[in-house]
Amino acid sequence: MATSQAANLTERGREEKATIRQDVSNPARERERFGDPSGEKMKALIWLGKNDVTLTEVPKPTIIEDSDVILKVTGSTICGSDLHLYHGSVVEMQKGDILGHEFCGVVDSIGPGITDLKKGDRVVASFQISCGECAYCKMKLSSQCERTNSSHLQNALYGARTAGMFGYSHFTGGFAGGQAEYVRVPYAQTNLLRLPPNIPDEKGLYLSDVLGTSWHCVVDTGVAEGDVVAIWGAGPIGQMCAEFSFMHGASRVIVIDGGAGAWRLDFVKKKLPKVETVDYSKLESGKSVTKVLKEMTEGRRGPDVALECAAGEYAKGWAHYLEIMLGAETDTSEILNEMITSVRNFGKCGITGVYVGFTNHFNIGSLMQRGVRLIGNGQAPVQKYWEHLLSMIENGKLEPLHMVSHRVKLEDADLLYRLYDERNQGIQKVYIQTKFSKEPCPGSPALVDLE
Ligand SMILES: NC(=O)c1ccc[n+]([C@@H]2O[C@H](COP(=O)([O-])OP(=O)(O)OC[C@H]3O[C@@H](n4cnc5c(N)ncnc54)[C@H](O)[C@@H]3O)[C@@H](O)[C@H]2O)c1
Ligand SMILES: [Zn+2]
Ligand SMILES: [Zn+2]
Repeated sequence: MATSQAANLTERGREEKATIRQDVSNPARERERFGDPSGEKMKALIWLGKNDVTLTEVPKPTIIEDSDVILKVTGSTICGSDLHLYHGSVVEMQKGDILGHEFCGVVDSIGPGITDLKKGDRVVASFQISCGECAYCKMKLSSQCERTNSSHLQNALYGARTAGMFGYSHFTGGFAGGQAEYVRVPYAQTNLLRLPPNIPDEKGLYLSDVLGTSWHCVVDTGVAEGDVVAIWGAGPIGQMCAEFSFMHGASRVIVIDGGAGAWRLDFVKKKLPKVETVDYSKLESGKSVTKVLKEMTEGRRGPDVALECAAGEYAKGWAHYLEIMLGAETDTSEILNEMITSVRNFGKCGITGVYVGFTNHFNIGSLMQRGVRLIGNGQAPVQKYWEHLLSMIENGKLEPLHMVSHRVKLEDADLLYRLYDERNQGIQKVYIQTKFSKEPCPGSPALVDLE
C-alpha cells in the first residue's frame, strides 16, 4: 500500500504517448466533461482503499472521443486480478476508481468515428484497450498496445509499457471499469467483439479475459503432445489452463492449490476427472511440492511444463511474508522456485499469475544450470484468440460454464470481493448481473443473495 501511494506521487503527469484520454476512472471526477449531459446516474463499484470497495452512485459516462462507445453493462465478473487491486498490491490505485475489467453488454451510444457498431449491438469487451493500428496491435499483441497507456512509472519500472486496461489502476491508464451499469469503451471497434445470437452473455462474457488468458498461457508456454503439465492455482485461470492443456495434447495435468483454496482442487476434478491434484497444505512432513511432483513423474524427472496461475503476492513462508510487508520485495519467489526445481531439465515454466515488481531469493542457479525456460506470458493478448475461442463455444468444444459457480447482483459486488478473497462459499467464477441483464441462460447458476 505504501508503495502504491508513493507511486501515485511519482507519476507527475503523463508523457503524450497515448492517443486517447486517460485517467477517466470515474466520471464523477469531472462531471461536466465525463458525465452524461442528461445528468443520469448509474451504480458502480469503486475502490476506497486496501480491502475496501463499495457500490455507489456516480454520473453515467459520456462519449468523450470519436472512437468511444458507451456500453450498457449486462454482465461482469470478478477475477483474481481484482484481488490484487483490492489488496493494494498493484500500484497507483486512487480512491474512487471504478473497478472491473471483464464485461459484456449492449451498445448504448456511439461516437462519431464508429462505423461498424450500432446502438443495440450485443458485445463483449477485451480487458485491454488497444488501438488496433500500432506495431503490437498489428501483430495481434493487443495487451502491449503502445497508444493507450502513457504511465511514466510503468515505463521506468518495466522498461516499456503495456496497453491501457479497464478498471486496473492508473498504472495502466486509469480507465473506469465495467463493474457498473455503464462503461466507456475507447477504440470501441477494436475492443468490442460482437456476440452472435446463439451465444448468451453468460458464455460470451468470459472472452473478456479468463478464456483468452488461459489459452495464451498454454500456447505461449508451449504445452506439446504427451507433456506432463503442472499448474499452480486451481482458480478459474488454473482450471481453464487444465482444460486447454488436455486440448493441446497433455498426457497428464497435475493441479496444485492449498489452504483456503484447497476445495477448488475437488471443484476442478469434478469438472475434469482426468486431472490429478496436490494439496500443498496437506503434505507429509519433510515433503515439498517439488518432491511430490518428482515422485508423481518418476521416470520423467519432473513435469515437462509448469504454469503459474496463482500470483506473486501470496507468500507461503514467514520470510517472504515479512519481506513483502516491509517493502523489501513486492512478490514472493516461492512458487517460481517450486516450478523451476520441479520441471525436468530443459522444461518450460510460464507465468500468467500477476507479479508486480521485484522478488528475492530467486533460484537463478537451477534455472541456468538445468536449462529451464522461464517465460513471462504477459498480460494476455486476448484479442489474438477471441474469435477462435468464440467459434469453439459455438461448436460446443468449449463450455465456459464449467467455471461458473455463482450469479449475483451488482448490488452485492462489494460483499463478493470479500468472499472471493476469502475463497469462501465455493465461489469459483461468478456472473454479476445488472438491472439490464436478461434471465440466466440454461445451465447457468440461478441468482443468489450473498450473505
Ligand atoms: N496475465 C494475464 O493476462 C492474467 C489475466 C487474468 C488473470 N491473471 C492472473 O492469474 C492469476 C490467477 O487468476 P484467478 O482468477 O484464477 O485467481 P484466483 O485468485 O481466483 O486463484 C488463484 C489460486 O491460486 C491459489 N494459490 C495461492 N498460492 C498458491 C501456491 N503457493 N501454490 C498453489 N496455489 C496457490 C489460491 O488458493 C487460489 O485458489 C491471478 O494472479 C490473476 O491476477 C493474469
Ligand atoms: Zn481478469
Ligand atoms: Zn495499438
